[in-house]
Amino acid sequence: MEKNIALVGFMGSGKSVVAKLLAKQLGRKLISTDQLIVERERMEITDIFSIKGEKYFRDVEEDVVFEVSQGEGLVIDCGGGVVLREQNINNLHYRSIIVYLKTSSEAIYSRIKDQMHRPLLNVEDPKSKIDELIAPRLSFYEKANLTVDTSKKTIDFVVDEIIKSISQ
Ligand code: S3P
Repeated sequence: MEKNIALVGFMGSGKSVVAKLLAKQLGRKLISTDQLIVERERMEITDIFSIKGEKYFRDVEEDVVFEVSQGEGLVIDCGGGVVLREQNINNLHYRSIIVYLKTSSEAIYSRIKDQMHRPLLNVEDPKSKIDELIAPRLSFYEKANLTVDTSKKTIDFVVDEIIKSISQ
């Protein structure tokens, strides 16, 4: 059985771009939990949050994480908040190597400041919001099997590092 590679990390840590290149280089299928949620709900993430609320989003996310974690050989791009429910981590550990893309809050801020598709960061002071949201998540992110710091690295370098580490 070929394990999945599940990327976790805060918003703006580079999960989506890294997952895309990783899947391409390894010839694996790419799955994004956010994308599956949008397809399933036929609604953008910001609308799900504003119309149905965060709890509803997290419930759908939990179902989607359960389903994708039963797969084999996938690259899974996980939404930044999957670590908020322990069940998600347990489900992912079943068949996935969990890779944490670690990023400083400064790097996150500079990457997300002009983007509008993340409801949790569409606030007056996104800088403080990042620190506030990241703090309780850190210990969960750090339960990953592999941690790669993406703050000052190119996407190619991060992908190479993941491929090298998992093939050892
Ligand atoms: C969230 C991260 C987002 C998306 C939603 C909530 C979070 O995914 O799932 O906006 O709680 O960190 P990305 O990390 O892919 O931006």
